[in-house]
Amino acid sequence: VDATKGIYDHFMQKEIFEQDTVLERTLLPALKNGLVNEAALGDNAAELLKDIEHVHIVACGTSYHAGMVASYTLESLCGVTCKVELASEYRYRRVVVKPKTLFVTLSQSGETADTLAALRFAKRQPYQATLAICNVPESSLVRESQLVFLTQAGPEIGVASTKAFTTQLMNMSLLAVLLARYQGLSQHRELALIDMLRRAPEQVRRVYSLDNQIAELAEGIAERNYALFLGRGQMYPIAMEGALKLKEITYMSAEAYAAGELKHGPLALVDSQVPVVALAPYNPLLAKMKSNLAEVRARGGQLIVIADEGAGYRDGTSERVLTVPKSGGLISPIVYTLPLQLLAYHAALYRGTNVDQPRNLAKSVTVE
Ligand code: G6P
Repeated sequence: VDATKGIYDHFMQKEIFEQDTVLERTLLPALKNGLVNEAALGDNAAELLKDIEHVHIVACGTSYHAGMVASYTLESLCGVTCKVELASEYRYRRVVVKPKTLFVTLSQSGETADTLAALRFAKRQPYQATLAICNVPESSLVRESQLVFLTQAGPEIGVASTKAFTTQLMNMSLLAVLLARYQGLSQHRELALIDMLRRAPEQVRRVYSLDNQIAELAEGIAERNYALFLGRGQMYPIAMEGALKLKEITYMSAEAYAAGELKHGPLALVDSQVPVVALAPYNPLLAKMKSNLAEVRARGGQLIVIADEGAGYRDGTSERVLTVPKSGGLISPIVYTLPLQLLAYHAALYRGTNVDQPRNLAKSVTVE
């Protein structure tokens, strides 16, 4: 993982295609005998984390979306309560901190002004511990946090974050597994969850093979000025990340909605000119998703459905289906992120924008 483009046209493209490698590189050093190695977070991690009951996650931009995804896992797998907040909001309000609360920051750079200020603010509150999930070992955030869980994404040059995000998802899953262990998760279950995470690189490689198909879908999107992204559960923050990627590098207007909110507003925008990207994995919410998509179809929206093998979607006149490998559980958010990154990337190529350095944006926002 070096800082040159190599065979790729753009850093963003290179970074998308590095994700199988960096996910593995992030996962392996965090394991010991097939289980999460708590020492990977710091020498006193066990002592600080073993009775955690609440988690506050604070971040900005793409890192905030990783925090949102994690909040679903933390509550469902560990039974701890979890609150996720934008750093710029968190730092300017009165925060209630119950005993046994862990404060987590997520940041690629470790230098984002609001996230750093939020950490400094949090250190004056009665948190049990502060933990940084960060990609830069020498960063301020890492230096100032009690516990550190590094992502091993390597240098990320493209302004729009890609590999930092999926490695954050990996580390947050590992953190959730660790906290679940302290809440009584059996070793057998833990091994099974880790086995699932080990499959992430291979699943990601299978998505790479959809690149041409995604480029074709991106052409249809790039002709429009607006796109709507829909998801439910953990796919909702992944939809938010997909909309953000598109916005950042194509300058199109894009937004994400939890699919159940469709009829509370965005349905009014849907007509034959509107591409609607739906994330529809095979899970207990599939039937609900299908009825949400029927609403879009009835208004003539141009559906792009990203779904697992076996989810039962078919290409239609105004509907294209992109089939991704069946993943489930902890790794679906990673698997579903890839096509959205590639969709934004190819749409930006069609629109001729500066993929690696979009106008008005900076890689790291070190001033407020
Ligand atoms: C900027 C970057 C984003 C990034 C955000 C947070 O807006 O352009 O890609 O997600 O900052 O950065 P951080 O380094 O804290 O993850």
